[in-house]
Amino acid sequence: MDAITALHSRRAAPRLTEPAPSARELEQIYQAALRAPDHAMLRPWRFLTISGEGRIKLGELFAEAMPSQTAEERSKLLNAPLRAPMIIIAVAQIVEHPKVPPVEQISSTAAAVQNMSLAAHALGYASIWRTGKAAFDPVVKKGLGLSESDEIVGLLYLGTATVNDRPVPEMDSAEYFEAWPAPENL
Ligand SMILES: Cc1cc2nc3c(=O)[nH]c(=O)nc-3n(C[C@H](O)[C@H](O)[C@H](O)COP(=O)(O)O)c2cc1C
Repeated sequence: MDAITALHSRRAAPRLTEPAPSARELEQIYQAALRAPDHAMLRPWRFLTISGEGRIKLGELFAEAMPSQTAEERSKLLNAPLRAPMIIIAVAQIVEHPKVPPVEQISSTAAAVQNMSLAAHALGYASIWRTGKAAFDPVVKKGLGLSESDEIVGLLYLGTATVNDRPVPEMDSAEYFEAWPAPENL
């Protein structure tokens, strides 16, 4: 798939199943992440790849971090990571830098997430970028071995789409792009 086709046709897939990318394909996805733009070459990103039994542990961590009022709520948390065969958690490891504020380090990590999503799509897989309360929960961070200053930028759920007929919405670029200054002000 050429790059423009990949960019124009990627869609989030909320329901994902096996297969997940193979080890060789995963390395291609990782390399795409590592080509994200990165001010001052800080390499502010870290990634945790979770699959198989690891997803059960992640669900247990979610349930421990966010005590549930009902059994249904608890079951939802326990099962959340089972919505895909693989999850890549993207973390911005924020450092103090005179020229690169935290927002840029987070932006760089976000670009890495999008690069992975597009690489997966180009390889015939699908994904959905999620966050939710878990991404901002200090107990979740601690359980993942992260420090307080780390920011979870996204959980990229990866696998094969079970339904891939969601149409790509048609967007009118004129609603979002305009020339500046407007031609009449030139
Ligand atoms: C930072 C970020 C966090 C997101 N968190 C969630 C989430 O927690 N749950 C969810 O259903 N979609 C979430 N989304 C949106 C989906 O990834 C997806 O973009 C959305 O379903 C629209 O589908 P599309 O990307 O195919 O247009 C998030 C997107 C971003 C950029």
